[in-house]
Amino acid sequence: MKDKEQNLTKTIINSFSNKLKPLVEDFIIKDNKAFVTLKALDYEDAKLLEVYKRECEETLLKKSIFDEVFVTFVEKQKQFKKIITVSSCKGGVGKSTIAVNLALALKRKGFIVGLLDADIYGPSIPKLLNLTEKPNVNSSKKIIPVTSDGLKVMSIGLLIDEEKPVVWRGPMVQGALSQLIDEVHWGNLDYMVIDLPPGTGDAYLAILQKLKIDESLIVTTSQSLAIADTKKGINLMLKFNIPITGIVENMSFFRCDQGKKYYIFGENKVEDLAKQFNTEVIAKLPIFKNPEEDNKNSFDDLVKKLVGN
Ligand SMILES: Nc1ncnc2c1ncn2[C@@H]1O[C@H](COP(=O)(O)OP(=O)(O)OP(=O)(O)O)[C@@H](O)[C@H]1O
Ligand SMILES: [Mg+2]
Repeated sequence: MKDKEQNLTKTIINSFSNKLKPLVEDFIIKDNKAFVTLKALDYEDAKLLEVYKRECEETLLKKSIFDEVFVTFVEKQKQFKKIITVSSCKGGVGKSTIAVNLALALKRKGFIVGLLDADIYGPSIPKLLNLTEKPNVNSSKKIIPVTSDGLKVMSIGLLIDEEKPVVWRGPMVQGALSQLIDEVHWGNLDYMVIDLPPGTGDAYLAILQKLKIDESLIVTTSQSLAIADTKKGINLMLKFNIPITGIVENMSFFRCDQGKKYYIFGENKVEDLAKQFNTEVIAKLPIFKNPEEDNKNSFDDLVKKLVGN
C-alpha cells in the first residue's frame, strides 16, 4: 500500500513543471485526499509563489483521482523556535486545559510563548482564559494577538461572535487556519503551543500539513473508548511524519485528602498504549479539584521533562 502510494506520488510530481517540482516538500495521500506541502522562505515569498500553488492544485484536480486536494506552503524561516501540539482524536479528554497550562508553565520558565487555538468549530481558549477583548490590527494590517498572563493568544473565538455557529467548508478551513498563523503578528516565539481540535477533520489535517511540528503531546484518559480514539490520533501523526514526544494521561487518578491515589479508570492501560507505539507516558495528571488553579507543580514537572532543567 505504502509502495503504491509512493509510486503514485512520484509519477504525479514528475508531471509537474520544472519550477514546481523542487518546491514540493511533502506529498501525502489520506482517505483519497491529496495533501501537498510546498516550500517557501516566508509568507511574502509564499505570496510570490502562489502561481505554482495553483499549478499544483490544477494538475492534481485534472487527474480526477482525489476527492479533495489541499496545497499549502510551509515557511522555512523559522519564526517559532519550537512548535508543540496538544492533541488526541478523542473529545473532552482535557486537550485545551493542558495546552493552556503547558503554555503558562513554559512562560513561568521564562520563554516567549504563543498559544494558538486551532479549534475553529468549538474554540475554548478564550473561555478558559476569560478573554473578551477583541484583538487589534497593526499598521501593516496584521492582527495583534491578545495578551494574557504574558502569553500571546489567538483563537477564532476572539474574532467572531461565539454564539453564532459557523459553517466552514474544505478550503475555508485551510484559509481560516492559515490566517490565524500568517495574518497574525506573532513576532518571534520560543514556543508556539497549539491546541488541536478533536477528531481527524480537515482543520486538524490542515495544521499538520502546514506547520513543521517539533513536538507532539498526545492526551488521553485511560478509558477504553478514549484509548481506541487516541490510537487513531497517534497513527495520523505518524502518517504526517510528526514525532510523538509522549502521552499525557489526564484524569489519571484521584488523590484523597490523606494523599492516597485512586486509579479510577485502571492504572496501566495508557502505559500499554505508549509501549505499542514505542513512546512514553510523559505525565500522569490527577483529577484536579479546580483544573484552572491547583496544577502548577504538575505542569512545571511536565515542562522540565520537555525542556530539561
Ligand atoms: N485533570 C483534570 N481534572 C479535572 N477536570 C479536568 C481535568 N482536565 C480537564 N478537566 C475538565 O474537563 C473538561 C474538558 O476539558 P477540555 O475542554 O480541556 O477538553 P478538550 O479535550 O479540549 O475538549 P474538546 O475535545 O471539546 O476540545 C473541562 O471542564 C475541564 O475543566
Ligand atoms: Mg478543546
